[in-house]
Amino acid sequence: MPSTTPAATTRLAIDGGAPVSETPIPMVAAGLDQTDIDAATEVLRSGMLRQGPRAKAFEERFASMTDAAHALTCANGTCALQLAYEPLIQPGDEVIVPAWTYIATASMIVARGATPVFCDADPRTYCIDVEDAARRVTSRTSAIAATHLYGNPVEIDAVQALAQQNGLRVIYDAAQAHLARYKGRGLGAFGDAVTYSFYATKNISTGEGGMVTTNNADLARSVGLLRSHGETGKYLHESIGFNYRMTDIEAAIGLSQLDRADAMTKQRRANAAALDALVGTIDGLHAPTQTEGAEHVYHLYAVRMDRNAFACDRDEFVKALQAEGVQCAVHYPYPLTRQPAFAKWVEEHPPVSDALAKSLFCVPVHQRLSGDQINKIGEALAKVADAKRA
Ligand SMILES: Cc1ncc(COP(=O)(O)O)c(C=O)c1O
Repeated sequence: MPSTTPAATTRLAIDGGAPVSETPIPMVAAGLDQTDIDAATEVLRSGMLRQGPRAKAFEERFASMTDAAHALTCANGTCALQLAYEPLIQPGDEVIVPAWTYIATASMIVARGATPVFCDADPRTYCIDVEDAARRVTSRTSAIAATHLYGNPVEIDAVQALAQQNGLRVIYDAAQAHLARYKGRGLGAFGDAVTYSFYATKNISTGEGGMVTTNNADLARSVGLLRSHGETGKYLHESIGFNYRMTDIEAAIGLSQLDRADAMTKQRRANAAALDALVGTIDGLHAPTQTEGAEHVYHLYAVRMDRNAFACDRDEFVKALQAEGVQCAVHYPYPLTRQPAFAKWVEEHPPVSDALAKSLFCVPVHQRLSGDQINKIGEALAKVADAKRA
């Protein structure tokens, strides 16, 4: 039983905000650190509320921390995808995208006037199944959009090889994978563009916010123009664009969090390792698998249940865990191929994605958890698993 072999010892949470003794144990480390509040307050007092020097500093620091040559802030992760897709994908193109991701990765392909071609997820990593993606390449395919899901990087070498063989662009959605690495390099080193979200629940959060990174100076210029009405001088517009700018208030909060981002990530990894040890002792439950050569950042800790090992379905299992004082989340209850919004682009239902939608659930892993809380999560998992065993 996990309770007799504690994998985690009590320690202080590494940043301020919500107290660690909260019940139920929260899924998200909500709340800002005092340094974030001070950084935002300084901007508020300065009167520079729009995109300005803080956004520039956030971009430069983020680019350097993710091994990208260019980074551009924007209003959120959805418009980061839109800004990256617009120069790289043409209307009418086919774009391969996993059925197992958040809606925005695929919906912004549709917003571009292109066709999403859904492929399956890899049953080990939950990221794109590159072999299945390869089977879906046609003469109309122009790009692959792949998500570093839950904080776990895609098999980037395989995706890049597939793209190179077929002359495809690659856009990586790293909304959940700030500061993850692959084969010793930051995620910004790979693909044509990488997009991020700084939504309130993300590992680095500015409330709402986004970023596009690229190593292509022309693409960076296009994204910069699209972000702000194609403006090249005061009220001089070279091209059509949007207002997708991030404010300096948000950027100051993001910049402040970058100071402790490495420590937060380290703590998430330590928490995940402790959870791995606890989950590993429970028959019928499986800890997440990290992609080979990758450094996962555990935005989410997704547990997979063997459905035939238990007498209940995933939703009932989750309800029982919540009754034990552990907040849980389901990412996601449906694959994109079961979403009414995509019905007209769905030709088949990828089986792994369908199975994941019925067998995955997430438990807290964030940096503010104490060792006692992690042990309680392990105890709750073991108790519910015993009670619900088939
Ligand atoms: C994988 C993924 N892509 C894109 C987004 C969209 O980001 P935002 O909510 O900032 O628009 C999210 C947000 O949850 C996400 O998880």
